[in-house]
Amino acid sequence: MANSGQKVVLITGCSSGIGLRIAVTLAKDEKKRYHVIATMRDLKKKDKLVEAAGDAYGKTLTLLPLDVCSDESVKQCINNVKDRHIDILINNAGVGLLGPVESISIEEMKKVFETNFFGVVRMIKEVMPDMKKRRSGHIVVMSSVMGLQGVVFNDVYTASKFAMEGFCESMAVQLMKFNIRLSMIEPGPVHTEFETKMMEDVAKMEYPGADADTVRYFKDVYLPSSIDIFEAMGQTPDDIAKCLKKVIESSSPRFRNLTNSLYTPIVALKYADETGGLSVNTFYNLLFNFGPLMHITMSILKCLTCSCLRRRTISPN
Ligand SMILES: NC(=O)c1ccc[n+]([C@@H]2O[C@H](COP(=O)([O-])OP(=O)(O)OC[C@H]3O[C@@H](n4cnc5c(N)ncnc54)[C@H](OP(=O)(O)O)[C@@H]3O)[C@@H](O)[C@H]2O)c1
Repeated sequence: MANSGQKVVLITGCSSGIGLRIAVTLAKDEKKRYHVIATMRDLKKKDKLVEAAGDAYGKTLTLLPLDVCSDESVKQCINNVKDRHIDILINNAGVGLLGPVESISIEEMKKVFETNFFGVVRMIKEVMPDMKKRRSGHIVVMSSVMGLQGVVFNDVYTASKFAMEGFCESMAVQLMKFNIRLSMIEPGPVHTEFETKMMEDVAKMEYPGADADTVRYFKDVYLPSSIDIFEAMGQTPDDIAKCLKKVIESSSPRFRNLTNSLYTPIVALKYADETGGLSVNTFYNLLFNFGPLMHITMSILKCLTCSCLRRRTISPN
């Protein structure tokens, strides 16, 4: 149970990756300012989190089951929090989806929206009324640079994050009137199981419905570039957790928080040309015309940003 003065932080999707690292970072805060309720849809997956939390487990970190795709699970989880009092809600749970649209069923696409979009909406709807009554709270949403800029063959995942960005951009204004802050965290690539799960799915897929050229562009052009980008520009879950901690500890938290400064020019392209031509043509050329050059650039970047020189987590302040 939280001590008086401790902020109650509820985090979704803590079985692995970024969610696990955020939970542990906040639970191990030196000044013990947080009581973390780390949630996951299957508590059988708790071991990695419990091990990483160490002494904090059972003290500043407790566990609750929560599936963001189930109304009942969300309600039950929040009802199990003392007085339903949550100071900071961190919407982290998410799933990816990669590949040619022709080979992805509408059912699979709906699952992505059910988690990445409706999962967050469900959580906000359940927690927001109590925050409004108290005239205080902070809602954080794990978006992505793909919530700001479309990326080829990530069409549906990108759409789910864009939907979230639009929802939050609209909600932020109303919430401000109730003294509730809303912040988006927008990481680029991060080395987690997310990447592994997507690559495993891709290896299993046969791409029914997609023509041979599209499959070839996906497998032989897009995938190698994507792997290069992950290797050269990927951050760690710890980088993201540190960035998020700064956001929630700021006296005036920013709405948008890109975690990787290498992505700032990519996002800026979109706003530099309101016709959209600049970003569409740039990405087309990078992928289809300058593939080998891009591979060399990424290899150089990988050397420049190797762990001894890595300084890519930008402070949101
Ligand atoms: N990795 C990246 O490159 C990257 C970049 C930008 C943004 N992000 C975002 O960061 C967030 C975390 O991703 P990650 O990289 O840490 O991936 P991850 O290691 O795969 O973690 C995703 C977490 O979400 C949970 N989850 C999935 N569906 C859920 C549901 N219905 N209810 C509750 N939890 C559910 C997973 O639980 P299970 O173990 O039960 O599946 C897991 O704990 C996602 O929102 C993702 O879109 C990731």
